[in-house]
Amino acid sequence: MKKILVIHGPNLNLLGQREPDVYGSVTIKKINDALRAIAKKEKVSVEIFQSNHEGEIVSKIGEAKRSADAIVINPAAYTHTSVAIRDAISAIRIPTIEVHLSNIYAREEFRHHSLIAPVAAGQISGFGAKSYELGFLAALDLLKRKPKK
Ligand code: DQA
Repeated sequence: MKKILVIHGPNLNLLGQREPDVYGSVTIKKINDALRAIAKKEKVSVEIFQSNHEGEIVSKIGEAKRSADAIVINPAAYTHTSVAIRDAISAIRIPTIEVHLSNIYAREEFRHHSLIAPVAAGQISGFGAKSYELGFLAALDLLKRKPKK
């Protein structure tokens, strides 16, 4: 069975309470439940990981080389700062979809630049909690195009 790893970056554990005008009122649990439901329907396995620590995210991505077929990641604030996360994604050569709840290009200028985008298969930004579902569907689509392992 193919496996998709979903990574939530820093402060996303606070979804639902955190700036609901920007990020909406949906909790991380609701997002994860929706992704698990899609995975079940599509017969793929899913692992979901949240961390507020850059190094833990880097290590998780490194492990994915052996354990996952695609990654859906919201790097959150690290999108704009982390060369280490970018390099980890670039190193493992597993299709990676970058997702954001908010439209990062419609916000403060420091959010307009993503260090992750050039090493991602694609980016989905601005659809609230739905960005994750769209990103997950994009990952599934990429996996269907690849021959089975
Ligand atoms: C975010 C956008 C980032 O700029 C921000 O730091 C986040 C969340 C989003 O999902 O819209 O924490 O990645």
